[in-house]
Amino acid sequence: MHCLDFQISHVKVQEGVMMAKKETISIYDDEMFFNSYIELRSRPDNYNDLIEQPNILELIGDISGKKVLDIGCGFGTLTVALSKKNPMRVLGIDNSARMLEEAEKQNKPANVEYRLIDANDIDTISEKFDVVCSSLTFHYIKNISFLFQKIMNLMNENGRLIFSQEHPILTAGEMGVVVSDLSEGINIKNYSIDGERIVRWLGKDVKKYHRKLSTIINALEDNGFSITRVVEPIPTAEQIEQNKRMLTELHRPSYLMISAARRI
Ligand SMILES: C[S@@+](CC[C@H](N)C(=O)[O-])C[C@H]1O[C@@H](n2cnc3c(N)ncnc32)[C@H](O)[C@@H]1O
Repeated sequence: MHCLDFQISHVKVQEGVMMAKKETISIYDDEMFFNSYIELRSRPDNYNDLIEQPNILELIGDISGKKVLDIGCGFGTLTVALSKKNPMRVLGIDNSARMLEEAEKQNKPANVEYRLIDANDIDTISEKFDVVCSSLTFHYIKNISFLFQKIMNLMNENGRLIFSQEHPILTAGEMGVVVSDLSEGINIKNYSIDGERIVRWLGKDVKKYHRKLSTIINALEDNGFSITRVVEPIPTAEQIEQNKRMLTELHRPSYLMISAARRI
């Protein structure tokens, strides 16, 4: 199946040696996808603002005086919210130039910096951080264990990692999880099979990676993290009252959030 999250190989000749340089093109750089995403996020009933952001901010807790890295910062919603918690500085990285352009355009606080860096290349960053955050990006990463290892290498002593991602029961099937009748619950397909999924979203084929909960937890443990908290947020009774569609979240939460601490 054709997918827009593709890779280009540049071949350059250097001192007689053929070197292949890979450059990732983000689907968030596709104009139509980007515009649809911005439109989705500007809707007053978007789940990011109603459920995801308040819960991850609470999980992140106190970061005053800390150096913070935000992986997959997009146009900076979490980054800017973090900057208001009085950190020393927040570095937001993303592999989409278009998203970062939007972030720069929006109100950029003095303690925030944005850089075009792929999450897979964070080992090119030369400073260390007290807190590493990521909101809804890790399901785009192919090798999560490798990423956790690179994050661990960027951490100061007592470092913390707090991230959200699409919930594994949502990433399991290529169709997402279809809820046709709220009283019937849900059907989940292929939960136990980790790997690539091509999901139709915002009019495009988007490549994501499904991992079962045990894969994620064990990858953290294997790379020197201790899990301190796991959150599967659901809407409040008041939110459900205002928007009955949110009842779906009681059958399958959209988000998984994990807070972990450097063990070694
Ligand atoms: C759903 S958006 C979330 C944006 C932001 N964290 C927020 O909460 O508003 C996912 C973001 O992850 C970024 N992303 C996806 N794969 C990435 C990668 N390999 N390296 C860096 N950023 C990536 C996308 O460009 C996009 O900005």
